[in-house]
Amino acid sequence: MLLSRPGRAAALAAAWTALGSTAAADAELAAGERVFRNQCMGCHAVEAGLNRAGPTLHGLFGRKAGSLEGFNYSRAMREADLVWTPETLDAFLAEPNAVVPGTIMVFWGLRSDDRRRVIAYLEAAAAE
Ligand code: HEC
Repeated sequence: MLLSRPGRAAALAAAWTALGSTAAADAELAAGERVFRNQCMGCHAVEAGLNRAGPTLHGLFGRKAGSLEGFNYSRAMREADLVWTPETLDAFLAEPNAVVPGTIMVFWGLRSDDRRRVIAYLEAAAAE
């Protein structure tokens, strides 16, 4: 389990409002957590200050791309005129190199249901 108990409760409460049922919300977040584990966690954490091969995704939404202190981004990411929102992340995860040409994130892209799920998970798990 990646989320602490209070974090998970908050995540479920947020997803409850969005989806209108705990069972559906729970399933969606669990699926998003699985996508994160399988596709992102090798390079990214959601904890503050924990950079791996990729920068931590803690506090991602609302942050300017390539702006974390202490992470050695590509020039492409640093100079990208992009703020992370569910929409910009969705486009990036579909085709990273089309959204940030020259990014050093080696990733082939995720299909749309997996993008929706991992974004829902990150909105809950990577929030400030
Ligand atoms: C093979 C390692 C790897 C994998 C797997 C990976 N990333 Fe990355 N990611 C990186 C690297 C390296 C960067 C920095 C890219 C750059 O500077 O061009 C990055 C950058 C990012 C950024 C920009 C962060 C910022 O601070 O601007 C986001 C958002 C992101 N990744 C999300 C994801 C998500 C979500 C997944 C899983 C679906 C994922 N990444 C999978 C290595 C990876």
